[in-house]
Amino acid sequence: MSNVTRGTAVITGAGSGIGAATARRLSADGFSVLLIGRSRDKLERVAETLVTPRLICAVDVTSPEAPNAIVSALQSVELGPYPLQALVNNAAVFHRLSFTATSEQMWRDELETNLLAPVRLIQAMLPIFGEDGVIINVSSTLGIRPIVNTSAYSAAKAGLNSLTQCLALELAPRIRVCGVCPGLIDTPIHAFHTENESSENRKLAHRSQPMARMGRPEEIAAMISFLAGPESTWTTGSLHTVDGGISLL
Ligand SMILES: NC(=O)c1ccc[n+]([C@@H]2O[C@H](COP(=O)([O-])OP(=O)(O)OC[C@H]3O[C@@H](n4cnc5c(N)ncnc54)[C@H](OP(=O)(O)O)[C@@H]3O)[C@@H](O)[C@H]2O)c1
Repeated sequence: MSNVTRGTAVITGAGSGIGAATARRLSADGFSVLLIGRSRDKLERVAETLVTPRLICAVDVTSPEAPNAIVSALQSVELGPYPLQALVNNAAVFHRLSFTATSEQMWRDELETNLLAPVRLIQAMLPIFGEDGVIINVSSTLGIRPIVNTSAYSAAKAGLNSLTQCLALELAPRIRVCGVCPGLIDTPIHAFHTENESSENRKLAHRSQPMARMGRPEEIAAMISFLAGPESTWTTGSLHTVDGGISLL
């Protein structure tokens, strides 16, 4: 299996939701893929659906050993000789709580997973990036326009947006850095993900959207595919809102 035409892509949080859809899309685009997440089982299920060489690194991205473990996995022969072309920082946690109910530990969890883990991964990977590489940080509309009871998550995503813009300036012209800001997407990050389609929570989630439905993970993966591909070579430092129009309300 060596239908690789585009180099290697690293995707964190690849075991479910947007990360899994991105792994499938980038593999179909011709990338070999390194899948990262804490659950090996989830990663293995996604890996089975890919059409290019793939490798799993089951690691907590907030752990001190994560950057080295991921770089070592990237250098393994199993992925083939393809240079690192794309890093998708997608793993995240989401706590929806009032500011007063948000504990110190929750703040640390949000900042460690959603902001500092991408920082450390980028630091570790810069030396091994191929030419014309791209870093894509999956943020959120809440990092631009927060809603109530999301202070820790929204602050972490706003920090990630700023990191995206700072690094776009510092890493040009070798590496492009872009952000993708999804709106409400139907993934396991939301508790109602597994509820029956006719549940009140799901109906409300659909009704609250201008497009009268939640987004699909594949609709975010499509933007990531564009940013990782040859049609976006003049695109860096930009934050791409993909939200069915919700942030206009
Ligand atoms: N769904 C939405 O409505 C929405 C809206 C805006 C932005 N986003 C963003 O989209 C991205 C993907 O989220 P999603 O909606 O696809 O949710 P998801 O399915 O829950 O994906 C999050 C992934 O992150 C992984 N993860 C969490 N903590 C980790 C850690 N410490 N180390 C390694 N992996 C970790 C999880 O896997 P394990 O638990 O197996 O580690 C999971 O696969 C996130 O950045 C999220 O903030 C989502």
